[in-house]
This record gives sequence, C-alpha cells and structure tokens, in this order.
Amino acid sequence: GGGGERGGRERGERGREGGEGERGREGGRERGGEGGVAPLLPLTGIIRVQSPDGMKKIPSTKRETAAAFLKKVAKEFGFNSNGFSVYLNRNKTGEILSQNKTLSLLKIKHGDMLYLFPSGAPSSSGEVMDTVQEDEIDQYLAKQDGKIYRNKDPQLCRHGALGKCVHCVPLEPFDEDYLNHLDPPVKHMSFHAYIRKLTGGADKGKFAALENISCKIKSGCEGHPPWPEGICTKCQPSAITLNRQKYRHVDNIMFENHTIADRFLDFWRKTGSQRMGYLYGKFTEHKDIPLGIRAEVAAIYEPPQNATQNSLELVDDPKAAAVDEIAAKLGLCKVGWIFTDLLSEDTRIGTVRYSRNKDSYYLSAEECITAGYFQNHHSNPCRLSRDGHFGSKFVTVVATGGPDNQVHFEGYQVSNQCMALVRDECLLPCKDAPELGFAKESSPEQYVPDVFYKDKDKFGNDVTFLARPLPVEYLIIDITTTFPKDPQYTFCSTQRFPIENRDILGEIQNFHSLATYLSQCTSTAFLDIVSDFHLLLFLVTNEVMPLRDSIGLLLDAVRTSNEDLAQTWKKSEQWATIEQLCSTVGGQPSSSLGYGAMGGPSVPASSSAMWSCLHCTFMNQPGTEHCEMCSLPRS
Ligand SMILES: *[C@@H]1O[C@H](CO)[C@@H](O)[C@H](O)[C@H]1NC(C)=O
Ligand SMILES: *[C@@H]1O[C@H](CO)[C@@H](O)[C@H](O)[C@H]1NC(C)=O
Ligand SMILES: *[C@@H]1O[C@H](CO)[C@@H](O)[C@H](O)[C@H]1NC(C)=O
Ligand SMILES: *[C@@H]1O[C@H](CO)[C@@H](O)[C@H](O)[C@H]1NC(C)=O
Ligand SMILES: *[C@@H]1O[C@H](CO)[C@@H](O)[C@H](O)[C@H]1NC(C)=O
Ligand SMILES: [Zn+2]
Ligand SMILES: [Zn+2]
Repeated sequence: GGGGERGGRERGERGREGGEGERGREGGRERGGEGGVAPLLPLTGIIRVQSPDGMKKIPSTKRETAAAFLKKVAKEFGFNSNGFSVYLNRNKTGEILSQNKTLSLLKIKHGDMLYLFPSGAPSSSGEVMDTVQEDEIDQYLAKQDGKIYRNKDPQLCRHGALGKCVHCVPLEPFDEDYLNHLDPPVKHMSFHAYIRKLTGGADKGKFAALENISCKIKSGCEGHPPWPEGICTKCQPSAITLNRQKYRHVDNIMFENHTIADRFLDFWRKTGSQRMGYLYGKFTEHKDIPLGIRAEVAAIYEPPQNATQNSLELVDDPKAAAVDEIAAKLGLCKVGWIFTDLLSEDTRIGTVRYSRNKDSYYLSAEECITAGYFQNHHSNPCRLSRDGHFGSKFVTVVATGGPDNQVHFEGYQVSNQCMALVRDECLLPCKDAPELGFAKESSPEQYVPDVFYKDKDKFGNDVTFLARPLPVEYLIIDITTTFPKDPQYTFCSTQRFPIENRDILGEIQNFHSLATYLSQCTSTAFLDIVSDFHLLLFLVTNEVMPLRDSIGLLLDAVRTSNEDLAQTWKKSEQWATIEQLCSTVGGQPSSSLGYGAMGGPSVPASSSAMWSCLHCTFMNQPGTEHCEMCSLPRS
C-alpha cells in the first residue's frame, strides 16, 4: 500500500527532470533537449519497434533521417550502433539502412511497426538471440515439429484416406485437452510447448519475450534519495500475484535403476540420519509428453554434510568443482538434488512412517526456499530471455514415506516466481507451519513488493489474499519420478566402491578399499572395473596419488565405453603406481572394511607394510602408530 502512494507522488516530481525519461519506456515526450538526436524537430508520430526484448515506442518526425532514427533506436534499446538491424517486415526483408533519407521518403509513418533483430545472429527463425548457448536438449527440441498427429477417426471423419478434418488434424503440443486426457493427466505443458504457444498460433512469428521477474528496486534511479527515503514508479518493483505455473522445465525424472537410489537410502538405513545428494545425469527427450524433457539420473554424489534424524546441513565441499568437472568429462551434469525425509516405522520389515501429510503439503516452505536457491544457481540458458537465462532445469527429489509406509521418490521444482522471491530474499518459512511460507514486509533495509495469491472463498468466488502466510502449493510444480522397467546404467561396474563422505559409517574411500575393490574384480574387463562414478572421483581427487594428466583418456574411455582406450590407459605409469600402492596396503583386511560397524576399519594385518591414514589417507611408513600428516592414531 504505502509504496504505491509514495510512488505516485514521486512520479510527478520526476517527469520534468529529464535524464530518466530518456530511458523509461513511455517517457518519450520528455526527451526534450538533453542530448537527443533530433531535438529541434517537433514530434509528429510514434513508431513502434518490436524486438526480442519487447516492443518500444520511438517518437519521431517525418523529416528525421533513417540514420538519426536508428541512433535513437540504438539508445532506446541499449545497443551500440551496429549491434542490430531494423526491418520493415518481420521476415527480415526491407532493412532500414543508416542513410540520409527521411522516414517519410521511406514511407514509414506514425503507428508503423518495425522489427529489430540483434545482429551477428543471422538466424533462420528470426525470433532468437543466437548469442546464448542453449543446452543440447533445448537445441534439439527447438528443431522438432512437436505436433500431435492423430489417425483418421472411423466414426467422425467423413473424408478419404488423405484428407484431414477437425477430428484428425494434428494438435499443437500445448493442447490442454490432449494433456488432460493422458493417463495420468498432465497438468503442465512442457516448456518447449509453452514457447510454441507464445510464438505460434495465428500471430506466428511474434516475439516471445520471457519475463524475468525482479522483486528489487531498479538501480540507477537518481532523481530521489534511495530507499527507504525515496521510491518512484520507475524503480519500484511491481506487485506479484502468484499463479500456478502452466508449464514446467522438466517433465519427468528417471533414475537409471533402483540400485542408485537404494545405495543412497542405505545411509539413512544404517545411521537413521537424513541424507542429501546431488543428482548427476543428463537431460533427454521425454517422449510421453509433447516436447517434454526428462532428467535422467546416472549417479548420486553425496557431498560433505552434517545431519541428524531431523536436520540436514551442508558443509563446505572442497571437491565440488572437481566433481562437476569429472562429470562433464563423462558427459554428465548436475541435474538436481535429492534428500531423505524418512522416519523408521518398523526396522525389522523396513517400513517407514508416512511423515508428510498428503493433503496439506509436499515440500515444506524451507525446502522450497532451498530448491529455489539451487534453481537460481543452475539457471536455464534461454535465447528468448533478455539476459539469456530463464527458469531452471534443476530438480528436487524427496525420498519420503508414502501412505503405504514404503519409501517414495517425489519430484518437484519450484516456480519461476518462487525463484525470483528466493533470489531477491522476499520469502521466509513459517516457523510453526511447514506448509506455509511468508512474504517479507518492507523494512528500512529492503523494499519488498506486495505478494498476492488467488484462491476461492467459501462461496466459490475468486478472492485475492496477501501472501502472509502463503500456501506452498502456489510455488510448487510436481514432476513424476520413475524407474525404467528394465534397469539401465551409465556405469557398468557391478562391484561397489564406497560412496564418498561416508566415513561415519566406516565406508571409507582409500587405497585399502581400492585394493579390496580391485581384488573383487579380478575377472572383470578393465573398462567395467573403472566404470564407477565414485571410484573415478576417488582416483581423481584423492590426496595420496591424484590422477592428473591422463585422467582425460580414462574418462573418455568410460564415457564412450571403449575397452581399447581403457586398456591403453591401463598401461599408464599412473595406473602402475596406483596398483603398487594397492599391493602395499593390501586388499585383504576387508571384512571389517567398508560395511562394518561404526568403529571403522581394522588395522591392516601386517605392521611391516606401509599404511594409509584413515583420516587423511596419507601413506605412512611401516611400524609407525600415528599419522605423519595429521598425527591421528593409526586405529
Ligand atoms: C516478407 O513479408 C512481406 C510482408 O508481409 C511480404 O510482402 C514478402 O513477400 C515477404 N518476403 C518473403 C521473402 O517471405
Ligand atoms: C542529407 O541530405 C540533405 C538534403 O538531401 C543535404 O542537405 C545534407 O547535406 C545531406 N547530409 C549528408 C550527411 O549527406
Ligand atoms: C534475471 O534473473 C537473473 C537470475 O536468474 C538475474 O541475475 C538478472 O539480473 C535478472 N535480470 C533482470 C533484467 O532482472
Ligand atoms: C555438525 O553439527 C554439530 C551439531 O550441530 C556441530 O557441533 C558441528 O560443528 C557441525 N560440524 C560441521 C563440520 O559443521
Ligand atoms: C545402476 O546404474 C549404476 C550407474 O550407472 C550402475 O553403476 C549400476 O551397476 C546399475 N545397476 C544395475 C542393477 O543395473
Ligand atoms: Zn478427419
Ligand atoms: Zn525511482
């Protein structure tokens, strides 16, 4: 409320000062004398210029030259003079060249619409900004036709085999009726279908400028003192009305097989503590939904964390960048995160308590905020947005109890509105009601726009509510999470190398566990042995003998499943050293190593062998009882 009034008053004072008006969208009338391109000519008309950023109205005169007009356009859109081209037609014909010809000579008149395209982007479809490198899956889907083809309906169609009528003509990928009649019904169209809806239809070729919501005061407003002393309509962010997002960036989450999820759950099973992991995999086409995207999970990386039965806290991960890099070389990326929210019901038969109320909430507000945080840090490259990013493909999976007391995997994303609220720090969790969020109030430190949501009152009428509090269902989009009928795998190893950061379980990654692992794989092809995400991470990031130069070759071998390449790498000096280290520490003492009790692995059998420190993995001389590196005891 208060912000709006203040804004109104300020606006009146602002108009005459110039400067700001030049930049503002509708401020053309005030542009007057300060540095304008043709300041002395009277205004005779407005020419509209459509661009991938939206449309702007450029005041101009008949006698203005094309060159002067283009300069004005450049200034208005914030381009330098040769960063764009303007055309008479949407199909990029009739370019307006920077020349000494008047607009009237070029037959451009008041009310005309011209079309601006950033240059260096000679694109075929015309509506794109090619400077953005979109994800491969987006590049692929953008080229697909996406139409839903239907057969001739024997009852309704009254035409020959080649004819088409209203009953059998292909449907658009965003056809709501079609999506609603899928089994199960699909509530959200895919993001690419949404783009088709924006750019297609009767108005084909129209620009789809995707709105990047901002809840912050626009910077650079100099006509008044900064917040909290001043604010005006030009710098004040608009109020936000939350609506259920019609589309989703990811339509399906698929774990390659149960083993991946099961090994992740093991941590909770063995400790009772909750667990969090990052999902590494790929985005692929999800064929069940027109132009859909699937997040395929090939591995779960478990970062260092500090968790209890009811809390989960991430701690600094010095290996985070290395993990991303290794994944990238394997053709994978971080597609999301997973966490457990599980309570044991009956440990003997392995049932879990149904801990979430199925009628009230799916993700808590706190979890929505975390998901929003991750999504903001993994934003989606998109040509149709002003700054080249829009939304996110980063998914959230919760492993939680279902009504049947079994573990269920539930997939979500938060809406782009929620991402903006989180990014601009406008959203808080409600302390005593996890299913409710709370839009912050403005304070001297921060202006927060009003946030509303619409719901029906008890009479069934639409009513607008202030989002204090706010049901999280307005922020959440759910995503089906599946396992394929036939297990798939990216990594073909059948043996299990310990998962990282599980020392508390006595599952330790070191050269003992490596030796043990290798001794279990004697009859396996070398490629299969090294084809394990956790093992590869260990080989590259361990402190004793980290792989450096030759890692590319090894990762290539795994990525392309090339046994010959793997064999070549096996002959490397590095592998020889690793094998030597393994034989020194011995692969034997393994019954208590790895899956033992909380006490951790036992002391290696022979005290005359070098030993690797359990805490820092440093290789110590035989006969010593304390680690030379970290001084912790050997056992
Ligand atoms: C481009 O559009 C204009 C106006 O709509 C039309 O007259 C012209 O034929 C089109 N040219 C091409 C090459 O499509
Ligand atoms: C542009 O054309 C006008 C009249 O045709 C002429 O007077 C003027 O000198 C020209 N300016 C330039 C830069 O060529
Ligand atoms: C759009 O959102 C991104 C974060 O997703 C932010 O960094 C950027 O400043 C925003 N751009 C505008 C024009 O608001
Ligand atoms: C883990 O949590 C405990 C208890 O909250 C705390 O004492 C400890 O410092 C935390 N460790 C790290 C690494 O944050
Ligand atoms: C499941 O996938 C993982 C990762 O690709 C792989 O290591 C594991 O062997 C697979 N398990 C089965 C049963 O296919
Ligand atoms: Zn027909
Ligand atoms: Zn202002």
